[in-house]
Amino acid sequence: MGRKYRVGVIYGDGIGPEIVGVTLDVLEGLGFNAEFIEVKAGYDYYRRSGKVIEDDGINILRNVDAILKGPITTPLNVPSFRSVNVMLRRELDLYANVRPFKSFKRVSLRDFNIVLIRENTEDLYVGVETLVSGVAVALKVISERACRRIVRYAFNYALKHGFKRVTVVHKSNILRVTDGLFRDIFFEESRNYQVEVNEMIVDTTAYNLVRNPEVFGVIVTENLYGDILADLLAGLVGSLGLCGSAEVGDTVALFEPVHGSAPDIAGKGIANPISQLISAKLMLEYLAERFSDEVLTRIANALELGIKSVVEEGKVLTPDLGGSSTTKEVALEVLRRSSTYLGTHARAYQ
Ligand code: NAI
Ligand code: MG
Repeated sequence: MGRKYRVGVIYGDGIGPEIVGVTLDVLEGLGFNAEFIEVKAGYDYYRRSGKVIEDDGINILRNVDAILKGPITTPLNVPSFRSVNVMLRRELDLYANVRPFKSFKRVSLRDFNIVLIRENTEDLYVGVETLVSGVAVALKVISERACRRIVRYAFNYALKHGFKRVTVVHKSNILRVTDGLFRDIFFEESRNYQVEVNEMIVDTTAYNLVRNPEVFGVIVTENLYGDILADLLAGLVGSLGLCGSAEVGDTVALFEPVHGSAPDIAGKGIANPISQLISAKLMLEYLAERFSDEVLTRIANALELGIKSVVEEGKVLTPDLGGSSTTKEVALEVLRRSSTYLGTHARAYQ
């Protein structure tokens, strides 16, 4: 019997509870041995309680092995409610936002395998803004320390996962000091790694990602550019409902979809659960590496194969991909396929 993991779970808002719920079922179905510890947070919770996260929430999250999170609404017209996502990233120091975008046959228009690594703690997201005499100013913060740890993370990631090239994306032709620092530290650190490097201005990157995504491997960039390019990449993959992410710090990591709470389809049972399932797969890989747990590696691989076969076969899909299946039907089909791939390993924990 392997280790019993402690996983913090935030169900989130909108479609969050639907896709997180079925993801926990899939994880349990595959024999992932864990205690799921719910932490209440988000906009719905705020409306009920006046708090963005339960009192001891951050403490609980600091002390679990990993966190699985659904999307959380950040309403545009409620100034007293600040983004829980940004708060969690800052409080837990989840400095590396890792977003793998891998094309699916039949669903994506092109063939590519890109990992976007986004600095997750500063840039314009420090949220320091002021309005004086009709002039609004926002502070863009780029520190040497944050640059260094994110570019190192990107180089190590590329080496570990067999990527040949790391591209730094910036706008230092205009933002010479802030983006200039990010760029300089990237090239300075690159000397310590045996990996091909290049640079690209962010607007050119948007164009090239659409025109020839196959030339990219790992991309490392600042917070805002990463946010925007991630949705562009999700469009290239074929749906936001197919993209998950890892937010990694030195002591804990959080796993969540790239997309938001999708209020337009919430409560209808038709949200695509694949984004949350991919996030769960990334969590299994993280735990497998951190605790040298080969059983988890096998479960993660089986889950990845299950997801790939369901999406590429195209018979059981949610409406965002042109199908007519429900969230539950897709999750169940992924579980069925993944269990087949897992074979006898499905019982490894029992
Ligand atoms: P969104 O990502 O929630 O939705 C954009 C479009 O994609 C919608 O048409 C939605 O139906 C569709 N979509 C997203 N996920 C899907 C899924 N799993 N299956 C099928 N279709 C899916 O973006 P939007 O509407 O701009 O944001 C809604 C809320 O989410 C906002 O309050 C925003 O602040 C928040 N948000 C939260 C994030 C997080 O918790 N990490 C990330 C991004 C946005
Ligand atoms: Mg975003």
